[in-house]
This record gives sequence, C-alpha cells and structure tokens, in this order.
Amino acid sequence: MENQREIRKNEHVKLALAQNTAPMSDFDRIHFVHHAIPNINKDEVSLLSTFSDFKLTKALYINAMTGGSNWTLEINQKLARIAKEVGVPMAVGSMHAALNNKEVMPSYKVVRQENPDGVIWANVSADASLEEAKCAVDMIKANALQIHVNAPQELVMPEGSRKFKHWQQVISEIVQGIDVPVIVKEVGFGMSYETIVDLIHCGVAYVDVSGKGGTNFASIENERRQHKDMSYMQDWGQSTAVSLLEARNLNTRIHILASGGIRHPLDAIKALRLGAEGVGMSRNVLQVVQEDGVDAAIDYLNAFHEQMQKIMTLLSVKDITSLRQSPIVIDEYLKSWIQQRQLY
Ligand SMILES: Cc1cc2nc3c(=O)[nH]c(=O)nc-3n(C[C@H](O)[C@H](O)[C@H](O)COP(=O)(O)O)c2cc1C
Repeated sequence: MENQREIRKNEHVKLALAQNTAPMSDFDRIHFVHHAIPNINKDEVSLLSTFSDFKLTKALYINAMTGGSNWTLEINQKLARIAKEVGVPMAVGSMHAALNNKEVMPSYKVVRQENPDGVIWANVSADASLEEAKCAVDMIKANALQIHVNAPQELVMPEGSRKFKHWQQVISEIVQGIDVPVIVKEVGFGMSYETIVDLIHCGVAYVDVSGKGGTNFASIENERRQHKDMSYMQDWGQSTAVSLLEARNLNTRIHILASGGIRHPLDAIKALRLGAEGVGMSRNVLQVVQEDGVDAAIDYLNAFHEQMQKIMTLLSVKDITSLRQSPIVIDEYLKSWIQQRQLY
C-alpha cells in the first residue's frame, strides 16, 4: 500500500513529463558575438570544471528527481546507469521518503549499487535534522549533499509546509555538522542576490540556482489541488539566466551551479559564460529515458556534451575560464533587470 509521500513522488514524475517546456527562455536574450574564423580545433576543447571539492569532467550533472516508490526505483536505476556510462554526477530526489520508511530505501540505494564508484549526491529538505542529513548521506555513500529550498512549491502544494523561518538555522547546522560538501538548491524558481548572501551567512559554499524556465512546480502542485485555483503562480520566480546575473558579483566567494530550463547545449554554454561552474538537467533527461530508454539517454547526454564543445570551438575558447571572457550582448529586458536591481 503506497503512502501519501510515495503517491506524491509518482505524481510529480507523471506531471513533470506531461509539462511542455516554455518555448521562450531568458537565455534567448543573451547573444554571443560570432567571429568568422575560429582559431582552435574542436579536439582542443575541454569542459572540465574543477572547483574546491568538485570535479565535473563534462561540466554537466543529472539533477535531483526521484526515489521513494517502486516505480521511481526503476527510474533511479536507469538514471544511475546513464550517469555511470556518461561519467557525470547524479543527484537522487528528496530522501525523506526513505528516512521515514525503511521499506523504500532500496529506491535510493539502487543508485550506489548501479554506480559504485560514481559521484552521487544525496538530497534532503531544509526541514531535515542534522541526523537525518547524515543518514541520507550514509544511505547512498553520497559524495555531497543537496538541501532543497522550495517555498513556492510547498505553498501551492495542498499538503505542503507553511513554516520556513527555521530554514536558515537548519542549513547552518547541517553545513557545520556534516563532512561532505553541501549544495543548497532551488527546484525551479531561481535565486536572488539576497538569498545567496543569506546562504553565505549560513556558511554555504555551493549553490544551485535552479531557475524558472523548465520544470514548473507551481503548475505541478496546482494540478494536484482540488480546484486548481493557483495557476496564477506559474510565472513566479527568476529564470536561471536572471539568477546567474543576480549571483555574478558573488562568484569569488561562493560556487554557483546552474539548472532549470536548460533546453539545449547553447543554454548550457550561456550558463557557464554567466558564471556557473556546472550545469544540471532533470526533466529533459527523464523524458528521454522514459520515452526512448537508457541507451538513448546516454546518446543524448554524450551528444549534448559534444555539441557544447562545438560551440566553444566556434567561440575559440579551449576551456571554461576562457569562455567567461567571450563577449556577449544582452537584450533590453535583462539590461533593465540589472539596472533596476543595481547589482553591478
Ligand atoms: C520529477 C521531478 C522530481 C523532482 N524532485 C526533486 C526533489 O525531490 N528534490 C529536489 O531538490 N529537486 C527536485 N526536482 C527539481 C530538479 O532537481 C530541478 O531543480 C528542476 O526540475 C529544474 O530543472 P529542469 O528544468 O531541468 O527540470 C524534481 C524535478 C523533477 C522533474
């Protein structure tokens, strides 16, 4: 018999797969300058991203999604095979299901079983105790821990939490008490300059801005509401591009990862150009694996990486450090965002 949390996890997967990706993205408001004669060859390009405790050979990772039910065990098993084959880190979904019910632990442990030497990230909410966070990390021998912050999702979710003012305290305690790196991530609503400053004060060194533009948990939770009466919240939040602009002048003090609405390799390259040190994808990988299978998802991610290298070739940049110097032109909307926020 499935409990409410297991049912919710399955519903999230079904509703996320049913969502249409927004055709327009703030990444489309950012343009690289084309130079007609590249001065490097593609085989010189590396997307290796090393920062502090992390080494992302392809600058990509599969971001948190699931676990907590029989169906999602199968999905996690497939995602782990893909991560192993492609050589990218993978985060599991929120592990509270297993912290509350040992029976569903295999749906998370399967990821470590499939990929014994891979880089795997655990995931808990900002309601987790230090003990729970440690337990989650131990369960899958995780290399890092993600703490997700998802206030809009909770507030639209019929059975969601309504209490948030303890979150910063919880995050500080976990960061201080755990012996793996902690990444604080959004779930698709983005982050502001002020949020990142708060996180720095909590001792956080790694942030995934996970912005608006891809999976939309305001819409997903609205679908789960009896009267579907909070659809007006679907545009809430900052896009990933805007979140990266918000974070830009903090980059020397905190490591920024980008996810949320990464539609194709050019979006990923733009995210790296704006200061991200790694780029995560959730729904797109889920969609390919569920529709076309594990091999197709491996091909998808390998092609994604290769196309990122092609774009870097066109820009004549051999690595991410050089990419950050590539000239860009940004459209009026983003310029006015920066001006009104007076960020730099
Ligand atoms: C089906 C599904 C379940 C998710 N569950 C979690 C979760 O348990 N914990 C979490 O931190 N993020 C979760 N996310 C959010 C993703 O990690 C990511 O932040 C968000 O989907 C934006 O990326 P995308 O546009 O590439 O999907 C989930 C996403 C999807 C699609």
